[in-house]
Amino acid sequence: MTLKSALVGTGNWAASALLPALRAQTGVEVVACVGGTLDEGQKFAKDHGLQKAYRTLEEMLAGESLDVAVVATPDHLHAEAVKALINAGVAVYCEKPISNDAPTAHELAGLQRTKNIPVTVGYSFRFNPAIQAMRADLTAGKFGDIWLVELAEHNPQFHPHSGKPMNWKGDPKQAAGGALFEYGSHVIDMGAWLLGPITRVSSSFKRVLAGARLDDIATLQMDFASGAQGMLITSWVLSGGFPGTRVKLHGSDAVGEVLLDDRVPEGQSYNFASACGPIGAARAVEPMAERRSDAATRHIAAFLASVRKKGAADSTLPTLSQAAHVQDVLAAALIAEKQWQQVGRQK
Ligand SMILES: NC(=O)c1ccc[n+]([C@@H]2O[C@H](COP(=O)([O-])OP(=O)(O)OC[C@H]3O[C@@H](n4cnc5c(N)ncnc54)[C@H](O)[C@@H]3O)[C@@H](O)[C@H]2O)c1
Repeated sequence: MTLKSALVGTGNWAASALLPALRAQTGVEVVACVGGTLDEGQKFAKDHGLQKAYRTLEEMLAGESLDVAVVATPDHLHAEAVKALINAGVAVYCEKPISNDAPTAHELAGLQRTKNIPVTVGYSFRFNPAIQAMRADLTAGKFGDIWLVELAEHNPQFHPHSGKPMNWKGDPKQAAGGALFEYGSHVIDMGAWLLGPITRVSSSFKRVLAGARLDDIATLQMDFASGAQGMLITSWVLSGGFPGTRVKLHGSDAVGEVLLDDRVPEGQSYNFASACGPIGAARAVEPMAERRSDAATRHIAAFLASVRKKGAADSTLPTLSQAAHVQDVLAAALIAEKQWQQVGRQK
């Protein structure tokens, strides 16, 4: 059966990763799109060979019989679109973060459970072979007890030298956090996917760009329910490739490090060594020729397979409940930033 799909949001990520990911699958037709304006949607449809662009999601739902929709709008518009799609019985792949606040994310997760419509959230880096190899070693007990995880996610697209002006991602009316929400959310998801729920956070945000209104650099400390401790650095200005991700697990028996970065050979690496051995001494996976959109392509493939199986989900697929947990961590980080202790004032 050919699945009929459509795009909601026709910007950079839709054009560079999500549409190619859909078109890389068999048995899926991309029939329509909705852009920020009708003109934008029509231009996208013409440029990319889609049959039709609609003015609004409601008009598209009335005009098409869709099986799947991919939502890649600015973050503050995700929830409204996901809600309308679930209520219309359409399976949804929605970009991350799922919302700008935690209650909305939990509300969506509740709606999804009630209606039993397949939904996944775009934490696609889980689909990189290097992080999957690390998770397999973790599940097999090769690390022993995990004491600490170091997480980093950098994408310097707004570094002044890149010449790219800030967009909605740095506008507090459309985003609740800056680099932390846009990029840090990926590695919060990966940390929780590897180690389970996060129970406590502290945070620090820095604005370094002229006129910045949200964090350009964010650091977090985290405690996991498992007892592990976490450190996170994220930014949209610090040097790093795309995705510029680092996950380093320190266990009682071993240490392992994953790099996902288009500047490293093959786009990613995973090294594993005994606890006191030099990192990189034992390479755990063969070099992998990874390209920018490969993880999204595998994510979409796994999601469409689960839609065909009527919701029997691959456990790698990021769920709405897991995305709501990420949102809880982000919300706690926004509050934690205001609760620093001044040094020297303690009695
Ligand atoms: N998973 C990843 O690695 C990854 C990478 C990049 C972006 N993203 C996510 O993808 C989403 C889009 O990011 P982007 O970088 O493509 O941004 P973008 O600004 O390039 O694209 C957003 C698009 O949505 C359109 N839009 C605005 N209002 C709309 C509406 N009401 N209905 C339909 N479309 C509307 C805008 O006109 C624009 O074309 C964000 O949620 C972002 O976090 C994810």
